[in-house]
Amino acid sequence: MKIAVLPGDGIGPEIVAQAVKVLKALATDGMKIELEQAHIGGAGYDAAGDPLPEATMKLAQASDAVLLGAVGGWEYDKLPRPMRPEQGLLRIRKGMGVFANLRPALLYPELASASTLKPEVVSGLDIMIVRELTGDIYFGQPRGVQINDKGEREGINTMRYSESEIRRIAKVGYEIAMKRSRKMCSVDKANVLETTELWREIVTEMNKEYPEVELSHMYVDNAAMQLVRAPKQFDVMITGNIFGDILSDEASMLTGSIGMLPSASLDANKKGLYEPSHGSAPDIAGKDIANPLATILSAAMMLRYTFNNEDGATRIENAVKKVLAQGYRTVDIYTEGTQKISCSAMGDAVVKNL
Ligand code: IPM
Ligand code: MG
Repeated sequence: MKIAVLPGDGIGPEIVAQAVKVLKALATDGMKIELEQAHIGGAGYDAAGDPLPEATMKLAQASDAVLLGAVGGWEYDKLPRPMRPEQGLLRIRKGMGVFANLRPALLYPELASASTLKPEVVSGLDIMIVRELTGDIYFGQPRGVQINDKGEREGINTMRYSESEIRRIAKVGYEIAMKRSRKMCSVDKANVLETTELWREIVTEMNKEYPEVELSHMYVDNAAMQLVRAPKQFDVMITGNIFGDILSDEASMLTGSIGMLPSASLDANKKGLYEPSHGSAPDIAGKDIANPLATILSAAMMLRYTFNNEDGATRIENAVKKVLAQGYRTVDIYTEGTQKISCSAMGDAVVKNL
């Protein structure tokens, strides 16, 4: 298993180091892994003048999977847009063709009190958000800021989805739904946006190929409300890039902290980019207080989806459950009566429980 490791910026290096620790601990038990590190984001800009240096993209393409931390930092916000850290992330997603982003929002029972919602609203929560990742308004042309005919500046971004782009992500959604409770909610804004009207049409049409899946549709504004009103009504949620970006942040808070939400981004051949759903948190970077569990759980998803190593994935996930049951918490999920520990201590605790 050849894995490219891209720590990135902010808390990226700290959290990735913990996931690497966990993978290496599994490796001493006979799992064969080869890890190679490269720069991305602001770190890529600092090292090579590009948020996605050529060497990094080459390494990603030569690897079976990529483990990424996070990108972004205040010091890079004034750079011209193509040089900003986020562009490194968007380009590697597009370059690897990882169009299917899976973001599981799972509530560990021990964290029910860490959520800002009432425990009875979130207990038992287990949602899989399937977010399209390489299309939509994130990539649509035309885009930019131009001078309009009134001589005033005007910003333009374009929401676009082709039929084939919708079809391939819908297929991923249906296949995941078949392995879960066979319920899928497609989220769109078909009452206003033609692009998502097409989305709804195609997802509905494909239901014929997966008749066992109970398909429902919801407008994104209502979905945002339902997620905090009664989140347990959802199982698989499938949606486009920007709605998925927003709804997955919202869903993460149901689980106690965005520091708990892993993600897998897959291409058609299950090659994948694995990263926590959260950002680089520059305000807490370098303090060894970040929550590494989303990254560690992303490594588990890597074993499951790219390497078909269900045993390794389950070992990591069970170790995380045990650590939480033992009362260990990073500051973001700390509640009274539990034990506050550092990022690196959390990594050690997971390793110990493997
Ligand atoms: C995410 C992030 C990224 C996105 C940013 C950092 C470009 O918010 O992975 O959800 O918008 O996709
Ligand atoms: Mg986001």
